[in-house]
Amino acid sequence: MIYRSKHELDHFKLSQIKSSPYPQAVLMCPPDFFDIVDVKNPFMAAQIGKVDHPASVQQWRSLKTCFESIGLEVKTIEPELGREDMVFCANQTFVGLNAHGGRVCVLSHMKHASRQKEVAAFSRWFQKENYQVLQIENSEIGFEGGGDALWHPGRHLIWGGVGPRTQREIYPHLSEVFGADVIEVELVNENFYHLDTCLALLDETTALVCREAFSEASFKVIQKIIPRLVVVSAEDTSQTMVCNAAGFFGKHVVLHPTSSAIYEQLNRLGFRVHPTNTGEFIKSGGSVFCLKMSLV
Ligand code: ARG
Repeated sequence: MIYRSKHELDHFKLSQIKSSPYPQAVLMCPPDFFDIVDVKNPFMAAQIGKVDHPASVQQWRSLKTCFESIGLEVKTIEPELGREDMVFCANQTFVGLNAHGGRVCVLSHMKHASRQKEVAAFSRWFQKENYQVLQIENSEIGFEGGGDALWHPGRHLIWGGVGPRTQREIYPHLSEVFGADVIEVELVNENFYHLDTCLALLDETTALVCREAFSEASFKVIQKIIPRLVVVSAEDTSQTMVCNAAGFFGKHVVLHPTSSAIYEQLNRLGFRVHPTNTGEFIKSGGSVFCLKMSLV
């Protein structure tokens, strides 16, 4: 079932959705060839050629160390020359368990020609790891994988962002492949071009969200399903990409340094906060969440 409005969710109960395990491992791609060569999103405006390469390598390594320190296994994929955005490995695929517990990887249909070339390497990587790798046949349907499709922590439920990179027509396919309901939300602000730039699902009941990123109807849907919403300003969301935070094991939050008010709110909600500098990657429109793909 695909849900689009609060009204359709009248009888929906998260507690009735099948539970799912928290990911124990993530995939990352070293930033050897990370660069900004064009403007694919508003964060990249005026940043062409501005990446400090040694700083990006150091930030990426610190992020990997942070993931390991909270108990995640970090696997890596070989970076490829000329694939300047490959480091953002949340986007080339969408990965999860199907209704029978099988590990599935659905390949994205990336909007930009340069990023379409990244997908083949991920397809090979997931095949080697014995995932069932699927290509949704209609490649006209825009779909940027785990940038727009997010698993609800602890539940077999997909949040589906519809916006500049992903079209709603993909979600019936995902729903069928994974045997999961989809809650579709509409992105209306071009600054927040992927769902993971404006919604960070931290545990079953908590999320960071930027209200301005969503249509009114979609924000109501989010409020209906997620009781503990930390609403952050569009300014914090743009400047520190705070909604690209990543939650792990229902207790850790890894994010780029942001305001102390946000740390306090997260601490009060029982989370351990791990600020980790991703400034070089924010220049390209990505931070913690999209520098990794959670594995199942
Ligand atoms: N420069 C990349 C792009 O525009 C950044 C992608 C960041 N990924 C994300 N899921 N937010 O495609």
